[in-house]
Amino acid sequence: MKVKNTVVKIGGSLLFTEDKEIDKEKIHNFCQIFKKIKYSGTHVIICGGGKIAREYINAVRSFQSNEALCDTFGIDISRINAKLLLSVFQDLAYPLVPKSLEELSTALLFGKIIAMGGLQPGQSTTSVALEVAEFIKAEELVILTDVEGIYDKDPKKFNDAKLLKHLTYTDLQEIIINSSGNKQAAAGEYRIFDAVSLQILKRSKLNIRIISGKDLKDFEKYWNGEEDITCTMITE
Ligand code: UTP
Repeated sequence: MKVKNTVVKIGGSLLFTEDKEIDKEKIHNFCQIFKKIKYSGTHVIICGGGKIAREYINAVRSFQSNEALCDTFGIDISRINAKLLLSVFQDLAYPLVPKSLEELSTALLFGKIIAMGGLQPGQSTTSVALEVAEFIKAEELVILTDVEGIYDKDPKKFNDAKLLKHLTYTDLQEIIINSSGNKQAAAGEYRIFDAVSLQILKRSKLNIRIISGKDLKDFEKYWNGEEDITCTMITE
């Protein structure tokens, strides 16, 4: 069996339905894919916070102006999301959600699937995914989101938005600079790829694939080692 250390980030948008209900079917299907994986090695899943995290963040923001405090709510909710995955994996996963890279080192000793959420304020779970990928020397980081990758413009607003199949770190940097509005660094508003993540990416030299997690078809293909996957690849 091929050894492949992988980090998978599942965006919070994929964990909840439009009505803010937990998408139990999606979560179950996502975990099933891990049960069939053909690669041995370390597999760490990082969960986002999703709509529920944003609900909490908006409520806290309405009570007081404190972005760091808002971030802590996002972190807690993303950890609850990770804990939810543990309930599906049962014995296949390490039973606790590591809250730091030190706790992750302990979890790694057990050789099971690991699920995590956020780590510290001021960043997104994409940054966590990059930190973890760097830490475990992952061959690749997979980011599952609700679109098929990174586009030349917002695919939710423009019908003619074009999927960018391959980006270098420099291309990505330009996209981040051009698209960052004032809200870019507010709690709950770190986009698919934020500035902190870019800095970690540059030093880690990781390869990233951004894949749609909406129907999980392309994610399954990824694990089957198939090549014709619709996604954005980011390489140095
Ligand atoms: P994310 O914004 O990363 O999750 O974390 P998401 O909502 O799933 O994002 P998508 O789906 O990738 O767009 C939720 C919030 O938790 C806080 C931030 O406020 C973040 O916006 N957070 C998360 C931190 O402060 N630190 C972390 O390490 C992770």
